[in-house]
Amino acid sequence: MKRILFLFQLIATLCVNAQTSPQIINVEERTTISLDGQWKTIVDPFENGYYDYRREPFKDGFGYSTDKDVVDKSVLQEWNFATDKTLFVPGDWNTQRPELYYYEGTVWYRNRFQYHPKNNKRVFLHFAAVNYEAIVFLNGKTIGKHVGGFTPFNFEVTGLIKSGENSLVVKVDNKRKLEAVPTINSDWWNYGGITRQVTLIETPANFVRDYYIQLKKGDRNIINGWVQLDGNQSDKPVKVEIPELKITQNLTPDSKGFATFECNAKPTYWSPENPKLYSVNIAIDDEVITDKVGFRTIETQGTKILLNGKSIFCRGICIHEEAAFSNRRASTPEEDLTLLQWAKDMGCNYVRLAHYPHNEQMIRQAEKLGLMVWSEIPCYWTIQWSNSETYQNAEQQLTDMITRDKNRANIIIWSIANETPRSPERLAFLSKLATKARSLDPARLVAAAMEKEEIKPGLMTVDDELGKLLDIISFNQYVGWYDGLPEKCDRVNWTFSEQKPVFISEFGGEALYGFSGGKTERFTEDYQEDLYIRSVNMLKRIPGLAGTTPWILKDFRSPRRQLRYFQDDFNRKGLVSDQGQKKKAYFIMQKWYEELKKQYK
Ligand code: GCU
Repeated sequence: MKRILFLFQLIATLCVNAQTSPQIINVEERTTISLDGQWKTIVDPFENGYYDYRREPFKDGFGYSTDKDVVDKSVLQEWNFATDKTLFVPGDWNTQRPELYYYEGTVWYRNRFQYHPKNNKRVFLHFAAVNYEAIVFLNGKTIGKHVGGFTPFNFEVTGLIKSGENSLVVKVDNKRKLEAVPTINSDWWNYGGITRQVTLIETPANFVRDYYIQLKKGDRNIINGWVQLDGNQSDKPVKVEIPELKITQNLTPDSKGFATFECNAKPTYWSPENPKLYSVNIAIDDEVITDKVGFRTIETQGTKILLNGKSIFCRGICIHEEAAFSNRRASTPEEDLTLLQWAKDMGCNYVRLAHYPHNEQMIRQAEKLGLMVWSEIPCYWTIQWSNSETYQNAEQQLTDMITRDKNRANIIIWSIANETPRSPERLAFLSKLATKARSLDPARLVAAAMEKEEIKPGLMTVDDELGKLLDIISFNQYVGWYDGLPEKCDRVNWTFSEQKPVFISEFGGEALYGFSGGKTERFTEDYQEDLYIRSVNMLKRIPGLAGTTPWILKDFRSPRRQLRYFQDDFNRKGLVSDQGQKKKAYFIMQKWYEELKKQYK
């Protein structure tokens, strides 16, 4: 018996010391137990709970991961979750405790929960996101580590999770690092914490872990896709059904649990005007995973963007993941809906979710509302292009973003970078990322927010070799804010060498809601309104313009915006204030989008 127990422990130790297990998608449709709520925490700026005084990492059995109670009063223990403060999960610590507003470092989170293992069930611990680095311990054992602040990850804990009380400890560190993605400088708040949901997922021994179901690239009459099983009997038959289309596909996976399919279909295509979604059921044995999937094609033809073969204009707005009114990282579905409704009220059919993958519910709600999405990874500004670990990190974030959201019909663009300085190293880095994106998902466009050049006074272009690799010419321009005054818009024209659709991925300027004055007085609504009027007139002259996303829907927190009274740690380029008040410039966009709706009927 002892030998069997030892082997069992050895297997358990081996498996839990592995890194994250492959991402399980569509978590909301699985058998789950939520671990959200108030977690005990310890703020640990010197990482005292992870390193000894010689800066050597503790082995399992030492440090805060042991989650020891103080029982014997004669024992020296200079930390104690039980008597420390709590933080709500999901949530950032910056807006939950005034003393943590600017805090960058480690916070330990602890959740003790009851669990009762079921026969033949596997158990996974799933984090929807932790910013920025997480080291996870279960019952005092290291399970693994994850880096990246905006993508999901999970660990298999079958065999380690106990019957009865379990101790889950997570070391979260949001320190910015030069080699990180994003790197040390960004124009948004470095919200730290377990910022999205934590869930236990229970699965059968063999289950559907991942799948891809979309229209075949370039053929609107064929639905194709694949299914990936997980488990040691991975050649079990799988059934894919789309009842409303009378489609049933009985698949036999290969030895790795992978199966593909392709079938004729005449679906109602997903579009902003008719965001049609179909119930898709994927069954193995007695487990059925259901998803809501839309079918559409997105292509370019010269300077046109074609949705389902029809030329469209992407009437968009940029959005940061920061909750409406409460201005914190974690947002509820209701707060996401508020942001998306402000975009809909503006006349948008498209949103740029900047500068990192947003929470999954935001994308699913946008899909139901008929909002197309530009989704991006935070390869932002001065990334360490020659650092191979930095590349691996960026590629992993890109892979995890596409893995999670590849079945969302409303995502039309994967973006790999924002305003990155040109260099051979940066071009090599981003070329690899673009190739990776296309290998993971050939059915969407690949883009980046590049920068404009003024080739001679009043003549602008995008002269970036990256443009040759991407499907659209997308760039940020701030003529009238960072580049001259609004009147400069009147005398600027644009030219592009590439015959591709042109997207202005950012433009705009700041205004404090309610502050009025002259049109040349910075931070007045009058300045911002005049800038938008002149910018729209300039955009109307841009050849091949197929989409635009002004920067930005809502004022958002940034440590770079320190002008007291006007900014107070907020970037005020929002068309809506941080308290939900629509500024004058909001209605300039609403008026233009109304015209465009008629023009592209
Ligand atoms: C840049 C950048 C944004 C930033 C904006 C600004 O274009 O992409 O992240 O917030 O400019 O300066 O307001």
